[in-house]
Amino acid sequence: MASQCGLLCHVIVLVLCLVHPSLQQDVPIVMGPVNSQAAVGTDAVFYCKVRAGQGLVVYWILNRTIAIGPNVNRNEALPKYEIFGNALLGYYNLRIKNVTIDDDAVQYDCLVDTKGDGSNYEEGATLSVDNPALEPMGPVCLGATDNEIVLDEGDELENYRCQSSGGRPLGELKWSLLRSDQTLVDVDFDTQVNTTPSITATSSSYTVTSDDHESRLACSLTHPNLNADSICSVPSGSAMIIVRHFPIVNFGPRLDVHYLETKNATIRCTATAYPDLITSIPQLSFSDPDMLIATTLTEEGVIDAVIRISQRSDVGKSINCTAANAKGSTTSTLEIELTPRLPVWLLMVVLILACLVVLLLSLCCCYCFCNGCKPKAVEDQPDRGDIKAAGYEVNESRSASVFKPNGLNGTDPRPINNDDADSFGDIQLNDYTIYPLPLPSSEPTTEFNDHETGEYNDGYLSPDADEMFPPMVEDEHLMDEKRISTFKPDDEMNGFASPTSPPPPPPPPLDLDPPQPIPSIEDD
Ligand SMILES: *[C@@H]1O[C@H](CO)[C@@H](O)[C@H](O)[C@H]1NC(C)=O
Ligand SMILES: *[C@@H]1O[C@H](CO)[C@@H](O)[C@H](O)[C@H]1NC(C)=O
Ligand SMILES: *[C@@H]1O[C@H](CO)[C@@H](O)[C@H](O)[C@H]1NC(C)=O
Ligand SMILES: *[C@@H]1O[C@H](CO)[C@@H](O)[C@H](O)[C@H]1NC(C)=O
Repeated sequence: MASQCGLLCHVIVLVLCLVHPSLQQDVPIVMGPVNSQAAVGTDAVFYCKVRAGQGLVVYWILNRTIAIGPNVNRNEALPKYEIFGNALLGYYNLRIKNVTIDDDAVQYDCLVDTKGDGSNYEEGATLSVDNPALEPMGPVCLGATDNEIVLDEGDELENYRCQSSGGRPLGELKWSLLRSDQTLVDVDFDTQVNTTPSITATSSSYTVTSDDHESRLACSLTHPNLNADSICSVPSGSAMIIVRHFPIVNFGPRLDVHYLETKNATIRCTATAYPDLITSIPQLSFSDPDMLIATTLTEEGVIDAVIRISQRSDVGKSINCTAANAKGSTTSTLEIELTPRLPVWLLMVVLILACLVVLLLSLCCCYCFCNGCKPKAVEDQPDRGDIKAAGYEVNESRSASVFKPNGLNGTDPRPINNDDADSFGDIQLNDYTIYPLPLPSSEPTTEFNDHETGEYNDGYLSPDADEMFPPMVEDEHLMDEKRISTFKPDDEMNGFASPTSPPPPPPPPLDLDPPQPIPSIEDD
Protein backbone atom coordinates (compact mmCIF):
# COMPACT_ATOMS: atom_id res chain seq x y z
CA MET A 1 0.00 0.00 0.00
CA ALA A 2 2.81 2.35 0.76
CA SER A 3 3.89 2.24 -2.88
CA GLN A 4 0.49 3.28 -4.03
CA CYS A 5 0.45 6.60 -2.20
CA GLY A 6 1.30 8.35 -5.48
CA LEU A 7 -2.32 8.19 -6.44
CA LEU A 8 -3.42 9.79 -3.19
CA CYS A 9 -3.99 13.29 -4.47
CA HIS A 10 -6.11 12.13 -7.37
CA VAL A 11 -8.18 9.97 -5.12
CA ILE A 12 -8.69 12.63 -2.47
CA VAL A 13 -10.06 14.97 -5.09
CA LEU A 14 -12.40 12.24 -6.24
CA VAL A 15 -13.56 11.44 -2.75
CA LEU A 16 -14.17 15.07 -1.88
CA CYS A 17 -16.36 15.37 -4.88
CA LEU A 18 -18.68 12.63 -3.78
CA VAL A 19 -22.29 13.65 -3.65
CA HIS A 20 -24.84 12.04 -1.42
CA PRO A 21 -27.61 10.00 -3.05
CA SER A 22 -30.00 12.83 -3.59
CA LEU A 23 -31.49 11.43 -6.80
CA GLN A 24 -33.21 8.52 -5.21
CA GLN A 25 -35.58 7.67 -8.02
CA ASP A 26 -32.76 7.23 -10.48
CA VAL A 27 -30.08 5.46 -8.49
CA PRO A 28 -27.33 4.52 -10.92
CA ILE A 29 -26.20 1.49 -8.95
CA VAL A 30 -28.60 -1.41 -9.39
CA MET A 31 -26.72 -3.79 -7.14
CA GLY A 32 -23.74 -2.79 -5.02
CA PRO A 33 -21.06 -4.85 -3.33
CA VAL A 34 -21.82 -6.98 -0.27
CA ASN A 35 -19.52 -7.62 2.70
CA SER A 36 -17.75 -10.88 2.15
CA GLN A 37 -14.97 -13.18 3.19
CA ALA A 38 -11.97 -14.63 1.47
CA ALA A 39 -9.13 -16.88 2.51
CA VAL A 40 -5.48 -15.93 2.25
CA GLY A 41 -4.18 -16.61 -1.25
CA THR A 42 -7.62 -16.82 -2.84
CA ASP A 43 -9.37 -14.28 -5.04
CA ALA A 44 -12.14 -12.13 -3.62
CA VAL A 45 -14.89 -10.72 -5.84
CA PHE A 46 -17.18 -7.74 -5.26
CA TYR A 47 -20.11 -7.34 -7.63
CA CYS A 48 -21.40 -4.00 -8.79
CA LYS A 49 -24.17 -3.64 -11.35
CA VAL A 50 -25.02 -0.20 -12.68
CA ARG A 51 -27.70 0.97 -15.07
CA ALA A 52 -26.57 -0.22 -18.43
CA GLY A 53 -26.53 1.85 -21.57
CA GLN A 54 -26.39 5.25 -19.89
CA GLY A 55 -22.73 6.00 -20.45
CA LEU A 56 -21.94 5.65 -16.78
CA VAL A 57 -18.32 5.62 -15.69
CA VAL A 58 -17.40 3.27 -12.89
CA TYR A 59 -14.43 3.38 -10.51
CA TRP A 60 -13.50 1.19 -7.61
CA ILE A 61 -12.06 2.97 -4.57
CA LEU A 62 -9.67 0.95 -2.39
CA ASN A 63 -9.52 1.78 1.31
CA ARG A 64 -11.17 5.13 0.53
CA THR A 65 -7.93 6.29 -1.00
CA ILE A 66 -6.97 4.69 -4.28
CA ALA A 67 -9.19 4.78 -7.36
CA ILE A 68 -9.12 2.13 -10.02
CA GLY A 69 -10.79 2.70 -13.36
CA PRO A 70 -12.68 4.02 -15.17
CA ASN A 71 -14.47 0.81 -16.15
CA VAL A 72 -11.30 -1.24 -16.50
CA ASN A 73 -8.05 -1.31 -14.58
CA ARG A 74 -5.40 0.05 -16.90
CA ASN A 75 -2.99 0.75 -14.09
CA GLU A 76 -0.11 -1.62 -14.61
CA ALA A 77 1.26 -0.75 -11.19
CA LEU A 78 -1.81 -2.43 -9.65
CA PRO A 79 -2.07 -5.79 -11.40
CA LYS A 80 -3.68 -7.25 -8.34
CA TYR A 81 -7.04 -5.72 -9.29
CA GLU A 82 -9.27 -6.55 -12.19
CA ILE A 83 -12.56 -4.96 -13.19
CA PHE A 84 -14.59 -7.55 -15.08
CA GLY A 85 -18.12 -8.62 -15.95
CA ASN A 86 -20.68 -8.19 -18.69
CA ALA A 87 -20.60 -4.45 -19.25
CA LEU A 88 -23.59 -4.66 -21.60
CA LEU A 89 -25.64 -5.75 -18.62
CA GLY A 90 -23.98 -3.11 -16.42
CA TYR A 91 -21.57 -5.33 -14.49
CA TYR A 92 -18.31 -3.80 -13.32
CA ASN A 93 -17.15 -6.34 -10.75
CA LEU A 94 -13.88 -6.09 -8.87
CA ARG A 95 -11.58 -9.05 -8.47
CA ILE A 96 -8.84 -8.84 -5.84
CA LYS A 97 -6.30 -11.51 -6.58
CA ASN A 98 -4.36 -13.53 -4.05
CA VAL A 99 -5.60 -11.62 -1.03
CA THR A 100 -3.56 -11.06 2.14
CA ILE A 101 -4.73 -10.15 5.59
CA ASP A 102 -2.49 -7.13 5.87
CA ASP A 103 -3.21 -5.44 2.59
CA ASP A 104 -6.63 -6.42 1.38
CA ALA A 105 -8.94 -6.51 4.35
CA VAL A 106 -10.21 -2.99 3.68
CA GLN A 107 -13.25 -1.23 2.26
CA TYR A 108 -14.08 -1.32 -1.43
CA ASP A 109 -16.44 1.21 -2.99
CA CYS A 110 -18.11 1.02 -6.34
CA LEU A 111 -18.28 4.63 -7.50
CA VAL A 112 -20.37 5.76 -10.43
CA ASP A 113 -19.60 9.05 -12.09
CA THR A 114 -22.84 10.04 -13.80
CA LYS A 115 -21.27 11.74 -16.76
CA GLY A 116 -22.53 15.16 -17.57
CA ASP A 117 -24.07 16.38 -14.36
CA GLY A 118 -20.87 15.81 -12.40
CA SER A 119 -22.52 13.95 -9.55
CA ASN A 120 -21.16 10.73 -8.15
CA TYR A 121 -22.77 7.81 -6.45
CA GLU A 122 -21.11 5.01 -4.54
CA GLU A 123 -21.80 1.86 -2.57
CA GLY A 124 -19.17 0.03 -0.57
CA ALA A 125 -18.47 -3.19 1.30
CA THR A 126 -15.70 -4.64 3.42
CA LEU A 127 -13.55 -7.67 2.81
CA SER A 128 -12.50 -9.84 5.71
CA VAL A 129 -9.66 -12.27 5.18
CA ASP A 130 -9.82 -15.51 7.12
CA ASN A 131 -8.36 -18.98 6.92
CA PRO A 132 -8.99 -21.61 5.83
CA ALA A 133 -10.70 -21.54 2.44
CA LEU A 134 -14.04 -23.38 2.54
CA GLU A 135 -15.68 -25.18 -0.32
CA PRO A 136 -19.13 -23.81 -1.23
CA MET A 137 -22.24 -25.92 -1.74
CA GLY A 138 -23.90 -26.30 -5.08
CA PRO A 139 -24.42 -25.36 -7.70
CA VAL A 140 -28.11 -26.10 -7.72
CA CYS A 141 -30.13 -25.42 -10.85
CA LEU A 142 -33.37 -24.23 -9.26
CA GLY A 143 -36.57 -25.65 -10.68
CA ALA A 144 -34.84 -27.83 -13.22
CA THR A 145 -36.78 -30.96 -14.17
CA ASP A 146 -35.59 -33.96 -16.06
CA ASN A 147 -38.19 -33.41 -18.77
CA GLU A 148 -36.90 -32.34 -22.10
CA ILE A 149 -37.58 -28.78 -23.05
CA VAL A 150 -39.17 -28.46 -26.47
CA LEU A 151 -38.82 -25.15 -28.24
CA ASP A 152 -39.14 -23.78 -31.75
CA GLU A 153 -36.38 -21.93 -33.54
CA GLY A 154 -36.44 -18.33 -32.29
CA ASP A 155 -37.93 -19.08 -28.91
CA GLU A 156 -36.40 -17.51 -25.81
CA LEU A 157 -34.67 -19.49 -23.14
CA GLU A 158 -34.61 -17.40 -19.97
CA ASN A 159 -34.83 -17.08 -16.24
CA TYR A 160 -33.17 -20.28 -15.19
CA ARG A 161 -31.65 -19.83 -11.78
CA CYS A 162 -28.62 -21.44 -10.28
CA GLN A 163 -27.39 -21.05 -6.74
CA SER A 164 -24.36 -21.78 -4.61
CA SER A 165 -24.14 -21.09 -0.90
CA GLY A 166 -21.45 -20.90 1.72
CA GLY A 167 -17.82 -21.11 0.93
CA ARG A 168 -14.92 -18.88 1.78
CA PRO A 169 -14.66 -17.09 -0.54
CA LEU A 170 -17.99 -17.42 -2.35
CA GLY A 171 -17.91 -19.44 -5.50
CA GLU A 172 -18.34 -17.85 -8.91
CA LEU A 173 -21.23 -18.91 -11.14
CA LYS A 174 -21.65 -18.83 -14.88
CA TRP A 175 -24.29 -19.97 -17.39
CA SER A 176 -23.56 -21.44 -20.76
CA LEU A 177 -25.14 -23.68 -23.37
CA LEU A 178 -23.53 -27.06 -23.98
CA ARG A 179 -24.34 -28.08 -27.54
CA SER A 180 -24.52 -31.59 -28.95
CA ASP A 181 -21.15 -31.09 -30.65
CA GLN A 182 -19.64 -30.36 -27.19
CA THR A 183 -19.09 -26.67 -27.90
CA LEU A 184 -19.91 -24.15 -25.19
CA VAL A 185 -21.84 -20.98 -25.95
CA ASP A 186 -21.91 -18.19 -23.39
CA VAL A 187 -25.33 -17.29 -22.05
CA ASP A 188 -25.87 -13.93 -20.39
CA PHE A 189 -26.88 -13.97 -16.74
CA ASP A 190 -27.48 -11.79 -13.72
CA THR A 191 -25.65 -12.28 -10.44
CA GLN A 192 -27.00 -11.66 -6.99
CA VAL A 193 -25.05 -11.97 -3.74
CA ASN A 194 -26.78 -12.40 -0.39
CA THR A 195 -25.26 -12.04 3.01
CA THR A 196 -26.36 -15.59 3.87
CA PRO A 197 -23.82 -15.94 2.17
CA SER A 198 -25.01 -17.24 -1.15
CA ILE A 199 -24.73 -16.34 -4.77
CA THR A 200 -27.39 -16.74 -7.46
CA ALA A 201 -26.99 -16.53 -11.21
CA THR A 202 -30.10 -16.03 -13.33
CA SER A 203 -29.85 -16.69 -17.06
CA SER A 204 -31.14 -13.85 -19.15
CA SER A 205 -32.94 -14.27 -22.38
CA TYR A 206 -31.32 -16.40 -25.05
CA THR A 207 -32.80 -17.02 -28.49
CA VAL A 208 -32.42 -20.63 -29.61
CA THR A 209 -31.48 -21.69 -33.13
CA SER A 210 -31.40 -25.02 -34.90
CA ASP A 211 -27.78 -25.34 -33.74
CA ASP A 212 -29.06 -25.58 -30.18
CA HIS A 213 -31.08 -28.69 -30.91
CA GLU A 214 -30.21 -31.35 -28.35
CA SER A 215 -28.24 -29.05 -26.10
CA ARG A 216 -28.30 -28.29 -22.38
CA LEU A 217 -28.09 -25.19 -20.29
CA ALA A 218 -25.24 -25.60 -17.85
CA CYS A 219 -24.38 -23.61 -14.72
CA SER A 220 -20.81 -23.97 -13.57
CA LEU A 221 -19.37 -23.14 -10.18
CA THR A 222 -15.73 -22.11 -9.88
CA HIS A 223 -13.92 -22.11 -6.55
CA PRO A 224 -10.28 -22.45 -5.47
CA ASN A 225 -11.11 -25.58 -3.50
CA LEU A 226 -12.58 -27.30 -6.56
CA ASN A 227 -10.19 -28.93 -8.99
CA ALA A 228 -12.74 -28.73 -11.78
CA ASP A 229 -15.85 -26.66 -12.22
CA SER A 230 -18.92 -28.14 -10.62
CA ILE A 231 -21.94 -28.15 -12.92
CA CYS A 232 -25.70 -28.41 -12.81
CA SER A 233 -27.75 -28.44 -16.00
CA VAL A 234 -31.18 -27.66 -17.38
CA PRO A 235 -32.88 -29.94 -18.01
CA SER A 236 -31.31 -32.23 -15.47
CA GLY A 237 -30.40 -35.86 -16.03
CA SER A 238 -30.02 -37.00 -19.62
CA ALA A 239 -32.85 -34.89 -21.00
CA MET A 240 -32.07 -32.19 -23.49
CA ILE A 241 -33.40 -29.04 -25.02
CA ILE A 242 -35.18 -29.92 -28.25
CA VAL A 243 -35.47 -27.27 -30.91
CA ARG A 244 -37.95 -27.89 -33.70
CA HIS A 245 -36.40 -26.54 -36.83
CA PHE A 246 -36.47 -26.57 -40.61
CA PRO A 247 -34.29 -29.21 -42.23
CA ILE A 248 -30.62 -28.34 -42.33
CA VAL A 249 -29.28 -29.31 -45.73
CA ASN A 250 -25.61 -29.73 -46.55
CA PHE A 251 -24.94 -30.08 -50.25
CA GLY A 252 -21.56 -30.33 -51.90
CA PRO A 253 -18.86 -30.18 -52.93
CA ARG A 254 -18.72 -27.03 -55.04
CA LEU A 255 -18.96 -27.93 -58.71
CA ASP A 256 -16.53 -26.27 -61.08
CA VAL A 257 -15.07 -27.14 -64.45
CA HIS A 258 -12.01 -25.81 -66.23
CA TYR A 259 -11.76 -24.88 -69.87
CA LEU A 260 -12.15 -27.89 -72.16
CA GLU A 261 -12.95 -30.09 -69.20
CA THR A 262 -15.47 -32.86 -68.93
CA LYS A 263 -15.55 -34.89 -65.78
CA ASN A 264 -17.55 -37.09 -63.48
CA ALA A 265 -18.19 -35.70 -60.02
CA THR A 266 -19.71 -37.16 -56.92
CA ILE A 267 -22.06 -34.98 -54.93
CA ARG A 268 -23.56 -35.62 -51.53
CA CYS A 269 -26.58 -34.12 -49.86
CA THR A 270 -27.27 -34.65 -46.19
CA ALA A 271 -30.26 -33.36 -44.31
CA THR A 272 -31.08 -33.30 -40.62
CA ALA A 273 -34.29 -32.10 -39.13
CA TYR A 274 -36.49 -32.16 -36.11
CA PRO A 275 -39.15 -33.37 -36.49
CA ASP A 276 -37.90 -35.96 -38.98
CA LEU A 277 -37.94 -35.55 -42.72
CA ILE A 278 -41.18 -36.38 -44.46
CA THR A 279 -39.36 -38.39 -47.09
CA SER A 280 -36.52 -39.90 -45.16
CA ILE A 281 -34.13 -39.15 -48.06
CA PRO A 282 -33.49 -35.69 -49.46
CA GLN A 283 -34.55 -35.19 -53.08
CA LEU A 284 -32.24 -34.14 -55.90
CA SER A 285 -33.57 -32.20 -58.87
CA PHE A 286 -31.51 -31.31 -61.93
CA SER A 287 -32.00 -28.41 -64.28
CA ASP A 288 -30.68 -30.87 -66.91
CA PRO A 289 -31.61 -34.44 -65.90
CA ASP A 290 -29.07 -35.86 -68.41
CA MET A 291 -26.34 -34.83 -66.03
CA LEU A 292 -27.13 -37.60 -63.61
CA ILE A 293 -25.23 -40.82 -64.22
CA ALA A 294 -26.21 -42.72 -61.12
CA THR A 295 -27.35 -42.40 -57.55
CA THR A 296 -24.76 -44.31 -55.59
CA LEU A 297 -26.01 -44.19 -52.03
CA THR A 298 -29.21 -43.50 -50.21
CA GLU A 299 -29.74 -43.82 -46.51
CA GLU A 300 -31.59 -41.97 -43.81
CA GLY A 301 -30.97 -38.31 -44.51
CA VAL A 302 -28.20 -38.89 -47.09
CA ILE A 303 -28.01 -39.17 -50.86
CA ASP A 304 -24.93 -39.51 -53.08
CA ALA A 305 -24.91 -39.16 -56.85
CA VAL A 306 -22.39 -39.25 -59.69
CA ILE A 307 -22.90 -36.63 -62.36
CA ARG A 308 -21.13 -35.86 -65.60
CA ILE A 309 -20.39 -32.22 -66.25
CA SER A 310 -18.70 -30.53 -69.15
CA GLN A 311 -17.42 -27.03 -69.68
CA ARG A 312 -18.95 -26.90 -73.12
CA SER A 313 -22.53 -27.58 -72.16
CA ASP A 314 -23.09 -27.48 -68.42
CA VAL A 315 -21.72 -24.25 -66.98
CA GLY A 316 -24.54 -22.40 -65.25
CA LYS A 317 -26.74 -25.42 -64.80
CA SER A 318 -27.86 -26.22 -61.28
CA ILE A 319 -28.87 -29.02 -58.99
CA ASN A 320 -31.24 -28.66 -56.07
CA CYS A 321 -31.33 -30.77 -52.96
CA THR A 322 -34.56 -30.43 -51.08
CA ALA A 323 -35.60 -31.81 -47.72
CA ALA A 324 -38.88 -31.25 -45.96
CA ASN A 325 -40.34 -31.91 -42.54
CA ALA A 326 -43.32 -30.76 -40.53
CA LYS A 327 -41.77 -27.32 -40.05
CA GLY A 328 -41.25 -26.76 -43.77
CA SER A 329 -38.75 -27.49 -46.50
CA THR A 330 -35.22 -26.40 -47.19
CA THR A 331 -33.50 -26.30 -50.57
CA SER A 332 -29.78 -26.04 -51.20
CA THR A 333 -28.52 -25.37 -54.70
CA LEU A 334 -25.27 -26.30 -56.42
CA GLU A 335 -24.42 -24.40 -59.56
CA ILE A 336 -21.82 -25.59 -62.02
CA GLU A 337 -19.23 -22.87 -62.25
CA LEU A 338 -16.45 -22.20 -64.68
CA THR A 339 -13.02 -21.80 -63.18
CA PRO A 340 -11.09 -19.94 -65.87
CA ARG A 341 -8.12 -22.22 -65.90
CA LEU A 342 -6.76 -24.71 -68.38
CA PRO A 343 -7.07 -28.35 -67.38
CA VAL A 344 -3.99 -29.98 -65.97
CA TRP A 345 -3.48 -32.35 -68.88
CA LEU A 346 -3.45 -29.46 -71.33
CA LEU A 347 -0.94 -27.59 -69.24
CA MET A 348 1.22 -30.70 -69.16
CA VAL A 349 1.03 -31.08 -72.92
CA VAL A 350 1.93 -27.45 -73.46
CA LEU A 351 4.79 -27.78 -71.03
CA ILE A 352 6.15 -30.85 -72.73
CA LEU A 353 5.84 -29.24 -76.16
CA ALA A 354 7.68 -26.19 -74.89
CA CYS A 355 10.43 -28.38 -73.53
CA LEU A 356 10.72 -30.21 -76.83
CA VAL A 357 10.94 -26.97 -78.77
CA VAL A 358 13.64 -25.66 -76.47
CA LEU A 359 15.50 -28.93 -76.77
CA LEU A 360 15.28 -28.87 -80.57
CA LEU A 361 16.42 -25.27 -80.74
CA SER A 362 19.40 -25.95 -78.56
CA LEU A 363 20.29 -29.01 -80.60
CA CYS A 364 20.12 -26.94 -83.78
CA CYS A 365 22.30 -24.27 -82.25
CA CYS A 366 24.78 -26.88 -81.17
CA TYR A 367 24.85 -28.44 -84.58
CA CYS A 368 25.26 -25.13 -86.39
CA PHE A 369 27.98 -24.02 -84.05
CA CYS A 370 29.95 -27.18 -84.31
CA ASN A 371 29.63 -27.48 -88.06
CA GLY A 372 30.10 -23.82 -88.77
CA CYS A 373 33.11 -23.00 -86.64
CA LYS A 374 35.06 -26.07 -85.81
CA PRO A 375 36.13 -27.08 -89.32
CA LYS A 376 37.45 -23.57 -89.97
CA ALA A 377 39.49 -23.67 -86.86
CA VAL A 378 40.89 -27.02 -87.90
CA GLU A 379 41.94 -25.68 -91.28
CA ASP A 380 43.62 -22.59 -89.90
CA GLN A 381 45.51 -24.19 -87.14
CA PRO A 382 47.71 -26.58 -89.10
CA ASP A 383 48.99 -23.78 -91.31
CA ARG A 384 50.18 -21.76 -88.42
CA GLY A 385 51.65 -24.73 -86.79
CA ASP A 386 53.69 -25.42 -89.90
CA ILE A 387 54.88 -21.90 -90.10
CA LYS A 388 55.89 -21.83 -86.51
CA ALA A 389 57.66 -25.07 -86.85
CA ALA A 390 59.57 -23.57 -89.71
CA GLY A 391 60.63 -20.73 -87.49
CA TYR A 392 58.45 -18.08 -89.02
CA GLU A 393 55.55 -16.16 -87.82
CA VAL A 394 53.05 -14.67 -90.17
CA ASN A 395 50.85 -11.76 -89.45
CA GLU A 396 47.64 -12.55 -91.14
CA SER A 397 46.61 -8.95 -91.42
CA ARG A 398 49.46 -8.01 -93.68
CA SER A 399 50.41 -9.90 -96.71
CA ALA A 400 54.08 -10.25 -97.41
CA SER A 401 53.66 -8.79 -100.84
CA VAL A 402 52.58 -5.48 -99.40
CA PHE A 403 55.47 -5.16 -97.03
CA LYS A 404 58.32 -6.05 -99.13
CA PRO A 405 57.87 -3.61 -101.90
CA ASN A 406 57.61 -0.75 -99.44
CA GLY A 407 60.78 -1.65 -97.75
CA LEU A 408 62.62 -1.91 -101.05
CA ASN A 409 61.15 1.24 -102.38
CA GLY A 410 63.90 3.52 -103.48
CA THR A 411 61.85 6.67 -102.91
CA ASP A 412 61.91 6.19 -99.21
CA PRO A 413 62.04 9.60 -97.58
CA ARG A 414 63.48 8.48 -94.29
CA PRO A 415 66.73 10.00 -93.18
CA ILE A 416 68.24 6.73 -92.13
CA ASN A 417 68.75 5.45 -95.59
CA ASN A 418 72.30 5.87 -96.61
CA ASP A 419 72.25 2.81 -98.72
CA ASP A 420 68.83 1.67 -99.51
CA ALA A 421 69.72 -1.66 -100.89
CA ASP A 422 72.89 -2.13 -98.96
CA SER A 423 71.62 -3.77 -95.85
CA PHE A 424 68.56 -5.91 -95.72
CA GLY A 425 68.27 -5.09 -92.07
CA ASP A 426 67.62 -1.51 -92.93
CA ILE A 427 65.20 -2.46 -95.51
CA GLN A 428 63.17 -4.44 -93.15
CA LEU A 429 62.94 -1.77 -90.53
CA ASN A 430 62.01 0.70 -93.15
CA ASP A 431 59.34 -1.60 -94.29
CA TYR A 432 57.43 -1.42 -91.09
CA THR A 433 57.81 2.23 -90.37
CA ILE A 434 57.12 3.49 -93.77
CA TYR A 435 54.41 1.07 -94.42
CA PRO A 436 51.70 3.70 -94.53
CA LEU A 437 53.72 6.32 -96.37
CA PRO A 438 54.77 4.79 -99.61
CA LEU A 439 51.35 3.54 -100.47
CA PRO A 440 50.67 6.28 -102.98
CA SER A 441 53.48 5.06 -105.19
CA SER A 442 52.34 1.58 -105.92
CA GLU A 443 54.46 0.97 -108.99
CA PRO A 444 57.61 -0.24 -107.33
CA THR A 445 55.78 -2.85 -105.35
CA THR A 446 55.44 -5.19 -108.21
CA GLU A 447 59.01 -4.77 -109.27
CA PHE A 448 60.44 -5.41 -105.89
CA ASN A 449 58.26 -8.33 -105.21
CA ASP A 450 60.15 -10.19 -107.78
CA HIS A 451 63.38 -9.40 -106.05
CA GLU A 452 62.22 -10.80 -102.83
CA THR A 453 62.96 -14.46 -102.65
CA GLY A 454 61.27 -15.32 -99.38
CA GLU A 455 57.65 -14.70 -98.81
CA TYR A 456 58.18 -13.82 -95.19
CA ASN A 457 60.02 -10.72 -94.51
CA ASP A 458 60.50 -11.36 -90.85
CA GLY A 459 62.41 -14.42 -91.65
CA TYR A 460 65.33 -12.24 -92.61
CA LEU A 461 65.43 -10.51 -89.31
CA SER A 462 66.14 -13.51 -87.21
CA PRO A 463 67.00 -16.94 -88.35
CA ASP A 464 66.20 -18.35 -84.93
CA ALA A 465 62.67 -17.21 -85.17
CA ASP A 466 61.54 -19.69 -82.65
CA GLU A 467 63.13 -17.93 -79.74
CA MET A 468 63.53 -14.45 -80.98
CA PHE A 469 60.00 -13.79 -81.96
CA PRO A 470 57.69 -15.45 -79.55
CA PRO A 471 54.09 -14.66 -80.33
CA MET A 472 52.95 -12.51 -83.13
CA VAL A 473 51.57 -9.79 -80.96
CA GLU A 474 54.88 -9.04 -79.38
CA ASP A 475 56.40 -8.79 -82.78
CA GLU A 476 54.05 -6.04 -83.64
CA HIS A 477 54.94 -4.24 -80.49
CA LEU A 478 58.52 -4.29 -81.40
CA MET A 479 57.76 -2.86 -84.75
CA ASP A 480 55.77 -0.09 -83.26
CA GLU A 481 58.56 0.85 -80.92
CA LYS A 482 60.92 0.89 -83.76
CA ARG A 483 58.73 3.26 -85.54
CA ILE A 484 58.70 5.65 -82.63
CA SER A 485 62.43 5.69 -82.27
CA THR A 486 63.89 7.58 -85.15
CA PHE A 487 65.31 4.55 -86.83
CA LYS A 488 68.89 4.78 -86.05
CA PRO A 489 70.84 1.72 -86.92
CA ASP A 490 71.60 1.29 -83.21
CA ASP A 491 68.04 0.55 -82.62
CA GLU A 492 68.12 -1.96 -85.27
CA MET A 493 70.97 -3.81 -83.79
CA ASN A 494 69.90 -3.93 -80.22
CA GLY A 495 66.24 -3.37 -80.47
CA PHE A 496 65.26 -6.53 -82.13
CA ALA A 497 65.50 -8.40 -78.95
CA SER A 498 62.18 -8.24 -77.28
CA PRO A 499 62.35 -7.13 -73.63
CA THR A 500 61.71 -10.66 -72.55
CA SER A 501 64.39 -12.33 -74.63
CA PRO A 502 67.77 -11.59 -73.08
CA PRO A 503 70.43 -11.88 -75.82
CA PRO A 504 70.04 -9.60 -78.81
CA PRO A 505 70.05 -11.55 -81.98
CA PRO A 506 73.02 -11.49 -84.21
CA PRO A 507 72.79 -9.09 -87.14
CA PRO A 508 70.74 -10.29 -90.03
CA PRO A 509 72.57 -13.27 -91.27
CA LEU A 510 70.79 -13.83 -94.50
CA ASP A 511 72.90 -11.54 -96.59
CA LEU A 512 76.57 -11.34 -95.92
CA ASP A 513 77.14 -8.30 -98.06
CA PRO A 514 75.59 -5.58 -96.00
CA PRO A 515 77.52 -5.70 -92.70
CA GLN A 516 79.80 -2.88 -93.81
CA PRO A 517 77.39 0.03 -93.58
CA ILE A 518 76.43 -0.66 -90.02
CA PRO A 519 79.57 0.61 -88.34
CA SER A 520 79.45 3.75 -90.40
CA ILE A 521 75.96 4.46 -89.10
CA GLU A 522 77.05 3.89 -85.56
CA ASP A 523 79.74 6.48 -85.97
CA ASP A 524 77.09 9.01 -86.83
C1 LIG B 1 0.28 -14.65 -3.54
O1 LIG B 1 0.91 -13.70 -2.69
C2 LIG B 1 1.98 -14.27 -1.95
C3 LIG B 1 2.50 -13.18 -1.01
O2 LIG B 1 1.84 -11.98 -1.19
C4 LIG B 1 3.07 -14.72 -2.90
O3 LIG B 1 4.13 -15.31 -2.20
C5 LIG B 1 2.47 -15.74 -3.86
O4 LIG B 1 3.43 -16.10 -4.84
C6 LIG B 1 1.26 -15.15 -4.55
N1 LIG B 1 0.65 -16.19 -5.35
C7 LIG B 1 0.25 -15.97 -6.58
C8 LIG B 1 -0.37 -17.13 -7.27
O5 LIG B 1 0.38 -14.89 -7.10
C1 LIG C 1 -6.17 2.23 4.69
O1 LIG C 1 -6.18 3.65 4.87
C2 LIG C 1 -5.88 4.06 6.19
C3 LIG C 1 -6.00 5.55 6.27
O2 LIG C 1 -6.47 6.08 5.12
C4 LIG C 1 -4.46 3.63 6.52
O3 LIG C 1 -4.17 3.97 7.83
C5 LIG C 1 -4.35 2.12 6.36
O4 LIG C 1 -3.00 1.72 6.60
C6 LIG C 1 -4.78 1.71 4.98
N1 LIG C 1 -4.79 0.28 4.93
C7 LIG C 1 -4.10 -0.39 4.05
C8 LIG C 1 -4.17 -1.87 4.13
O5 LIG C 1 -3.43 0.19 3.25
C1 LIG D 1 -17.90 -41.17 -66.21
O1 LIG D 1 -18.99 -42.05 -66.13
C2 LIG D 1 -19.33 -42.70 -67.35
C3 LIG D 1 -20.57 -43.48 -67.13
O2 LIG D 1 -20.44 -44.32 -66.01
C4 LIG D 1 -18.16 -43.58 -67.75
O3 LIG D 1 -18.43 -44.21 -68.97
C5 LIG D 1 -16.94 -42.74 -67.91
O4 LIG D 1 -15.81 -43.54 -68.17
C6 LIG D 1 -16.68 -41.95 -66.64
N1 LIG D 1 -15.60 -41.02 -66.90
C7 LIG D 1 -14.62 -40.84 -66.05
C8 LIG D 1 -13.60 -39.84 -66.42
O5 LIG D 1 -14.57 -41.46 -64.98
C1 LIG E 1 -33.94 -24.98 -57.56
O1 LIG E 1 -34.58 -24.20 -56.58
C2 LIG E 1 -34.82 -22.87 -56.93
C3 LIG E 1 -35.44 -22.19 -55.75
O2 LIG E 1 -34.83 -22.55 -54.60
C4 LIG E 1 -35.69 -22.82 -58.14
O3 LIG E 1 -35.85 -21.47 -58.54
C5 LIG E 1 -35.09 -23.60 -59.27
O4 LIG E 1 -35.95 -23.63 -60.36
C6 LIG E 1 -34.79 -25.00 -58.81
N1 LIG E 1 -34.08 -25.69 -59.85
C7 LIG E 1 -34.33 -26.96 -60.13
C8 LIG E 1 -33.53 -27.58 -61.21
O5 LIG E 1 -35.18 -27.58 -59.53
